Amino acid sequence: NSPADLQAHLKSETPVRGNRREKSIGFVPTMGALHEGHLSLLRESMRENNLTVISIFVNPTQFNNPEDLAKYPRTLDADVAKIEKLNPKIIVFAPGVDDMYQGNTVSKHYDFDGLENQMEGRFRPGHFDGVGTIVHRLFEIVKPDNAYFGEKDFQQLQIVKKLVEKTKLPVNVVGCPIFREPNGLAMSSRNERLSAEEREKAAVIYQTLLAAKKRFGTENAKRVADFVTDTFEKTAGFDLEYFEIADEATLEPIATIEPGKKYRAFIAVFVNKIRLIDTISLN
Ligand code: PAJ
Repeated sequence: NSPADLQAHLKSETPVRGNRREKSIGFVPTMGALHEGHLSLLRESMRENNLTVISIFVNPTQFNNPEDLAKYPRTLDADVAKIEKLNPKIIVFAPGVDDMYQGNTVSKHYDFDGLENQMEGRFRPGHFDGVGTIVHRLFEIVKPDNAYFGEKDFQQLQIVKKLVEKTKLPVNVVGCPIFREPNGLAMSSRNERLSAEEREKAAVIYQTLLAAKKRFGTENAKRVADFVTDTFEKTAGFDLEYFEIADEATLEPIATIEPGKKYRAFIAVFVNKIRLIDTISLN
């Protein structure tokens, strides 16, 4: 459906008085292939708002790898069925590429005060310009009061907060905890592309983050990183792209542990060409 359809629908659901709408709107942007992690964001939005909108849009400009974009799972019918089952009142916005980009599928360029240069930004050139462009556009269309993002993509969450600060859009950005498989693997649409065996073995990612957390505080960051590198060198079929311990606010790699600061470990691992990320709070 088009932005105009959605806006007409929202207008009929919540009258505008002066500058304010009568009902609060919660918004959950996604790229579909919905799993329990996405549904947990929807539940949070429904608890806190009168209306909830979910967008389903595989955003081409945030994919630096064409094969990743081509192979990204697209399961709109199944997604809609999951949403209906959760709550038929949830409003689904599933635009096409032209609805969002008007025939010009390129990103705007954003300055996120350096957040965009770390980790995912370093290994996925242009990724956060793509995310910034689409989230900015979606916020302008939906005009949510509250928008829900998972800590699974912690760097993205911080970047969206920065986007809102810089553009002065009146949106409250809410971070939500990571939803995991019973074996600890962070839920992700990309997990669909793993074999059953790979999915089971991928538990090593969270296990290693937990072990790193235990070591943090008694061992220095370099030693913790060496432990993680060693672990993945010994794990057949898994290629570590990065492991980093960073300041939660700036995402800059840790130099020395400073009192009063929050630190977080971040990891990206390839399992048979499929790229998985995870993160854990360390203190
Ligand atoms: P997508 O990967 O579909 O994720 C949509 C939202 O669900 C993001 O906020 C993500 O952090 C959250 N999420 C994913 N897995 C989760 C899990 N296991 N637990 C909790 N939350 C989880 O992130 C994107 O789409 C896109 O970049 C988007 C923001 C939609 C812009 O295109």
